[in-house]
Amino acid sequence: MCGIVGAVAERHVQEILLEGLRRLEYRGYDSAGMAVLSDDARLNRQRAVGKVAALENKLADAALKGTLGIAHTRWATHGRPSEQNAHPHQSGDSLAVVHNGIIENHETLKGELEAQGYVFTSETDTEVIAHLLSREFTLAQDLLQAVQRSVALLEGAYALAVVHRADPDAIIGARKGSPLVVGVGIGEAFLASDPLALLQVTDRFIYMMEGDVVRLSQGGSIELFDAGGERVERPTHIFEHGDGVTSKGGYRHFMLKEIHEQSQVIAATLEGRLGDHQVLVNSFGTDAEQLFRGVRQVHIIACGTSYHAGMVARYWIEKLAGVPTQVEVASEYRYREVVVPEGTLFVTLSQSGETADTLAALRFAKQRDYRGSLAICNVPGSSLVRESDLTLMTQAGPEIGVASTKAFTTQLVALMLLALALGRVRGANGEHAPIVQGLRELPGVINQVLALDGEVERLSMAFAEKHHALFLGRGAHFPIAQEGALKLKEISYIHAEAYPAGELKHGPLALVDSEMPVIAVAPNDELLEKLKSNLQEVRARGGELFVFADESIRMETSAHLHVLRVPAVSDALAPIVYTIPLQLLAYHVAVLKGTDVDQPRNLAKSVTVE
Ligand code: F6R
Repeated sequence: MCGIVGAVAERHVQEILLEGLRRLEYRGYDSAGMAVLSDDARLNRQRAVGKVAALENKLADAALKGTLGIAHTRWATHGRPSEQNAHPHQSGDSLAVVHNGIIENHETLKGELEAQGYVFTSETDTEVIAHLLSREFTLAQDLLQAVQRSVALLEGAYALAVVHRADPDAIIGARKGSPLVVGVGIGEAFLASDPLALLQVTDRFIYMMEGDVVRLSQGGSIELFDAGGERVERPTHIFEHGDGVTSKGGYRHFMLKEIHEQSQVIAATLEGRLGDHQVLVNSFGTDAEQLFRGVRQVHIIACGTSYHAGMVARYWIEKLAGVPTQVEVASEYRYREVVVPEGTLFVTLSQSGETADTLAALRFAKQRDYRGSLAICNVPGSSLVRESDLTLMTQAGPEIGVASTKAFTTQLVALMLLALALGRVRGANGEHAPIVQGLRELPGVINQVLALDGEVERLSMAFAEKHHALFLGRGAHFPIAQEGALKLKEISYIHAEAYPAGELKHGPLALVDSEMPVIAVAPNDELLEKLKSNLQEVRARGGELFVFADESIRMETSAHLHVLRVPAVSDALAPIVYTIPLQLLAYHVAVLKGTDVDQPRNLAKSVTVE
């Protein structure tokens, strides 16, 4: 959702900024730009429509020389992708700004600024910030103060980086509602939307808090100020995942690499959280046991893929802990009158921990009478983690492919731990030991499923020419079917929908013909016989069926029926296992169609706007 990089260094910064943009491209990739202050304090800028490579080509012809600069990769919100709308935005030739987020009062501010003589050349809300900063600089004659005064007038979300010719040694950064980290160098300092962007220059980071403003200056000086303008110190964290995460490691795409990492990251997510026969409740924090004891209901809030993980958890929590559970997409939840029964636990799920809708839902929930909040998240130090009472970190490591894979399956594992923990504090005693054992064995089972890659690739050929697909599942596998459909549409652009298989006859069956592949998830559980009847309904209408079935089920590949045998797994953990062939299917179909698998059109990884 737009990526920002800034550098104040002892060397020319163009390459540092460019590499940062390449690493942030997953956040947005419709245009990119850079502004660098030259040694004689002139502000030089290059912008290009399209991916970072287009900017790189321009810079190859006309390099930007200087030791201080800012750069941006864009995901359009206000104004179509064009060079004029690309960042950095300038006010005159003195000041440049890059911005991630949305300024909700930009129209009012624009009206004011136009009346004061400022001329706008783009359709963006960011240009309002550039002129506002320029006006405030004229009044304050100090860039830090100009930023502090300007952000006080902004409504909405922002992460900003600003440079000005009159303060040629400094970059000012500010954040509210959008992520921004400071990279701590040796005699150098950096800013970025995500630590990944800076791993080539540092592994030490300061996570800025809501409302913080920072001044980075030559010599590596970092001065942080809180929302009230007071000077503050924030802890420096060492980034622990290493720089290997930003390479494809021999795979053709990040997405394929991340699919194949699932066994390892699931093992990492389980590490230290299982006792002999039970989950360790204090994995959720020292207060968790006491807080969980009073839980009578659970509300789970998330978006997209994370929402699907929440939907699976509803089946698990109700079954294993007997606690009524509601799941809702964040953008809907926060705009209705929510009834919060006594003892309700509020759970957010988010890979990034910065999703604007989910964060806003948490803030909305904190105004209500919840028993407490728990965030299941993959990014330590993210806003969601900082603002929740309890956290359980998934250990997926950074996920670069825009379509989420390993973050989803690690969320499922974390949610199974939650269901078991709630069950445990409510008196489940030993009966869940087989699931705990199943979790221990899960990484091995995942490896067996990954070995089906070649078979799934062969099946994928039947989809490359299709325009639509239907996914079916029952029980906890209905959300897995939904996730399979989402993966397929996101990266192959094939229209895909998912239904609980029992719903087919109530309408969608009308769509079934030989042009509509139907994919069914068929674990060997109590709903299998019902699912088989639903599949007969498809066959009887001439549909082409692709069934991902437990290896013990008697079902053979025959005319219009393709069966992929999945290793046997316990009912409880089957949703995690069945996710993987669906991810592989979407991946191979996308490769066959020649789409941009890691950066599908119109999408961005971290959705920090509402
Ligand atoms: C789809 C996908 C998105 C995200 C959604 C929420 O592959 O990744 O649907 O799941 O944007 O993001 P997080 O989990 O970061 O809150």
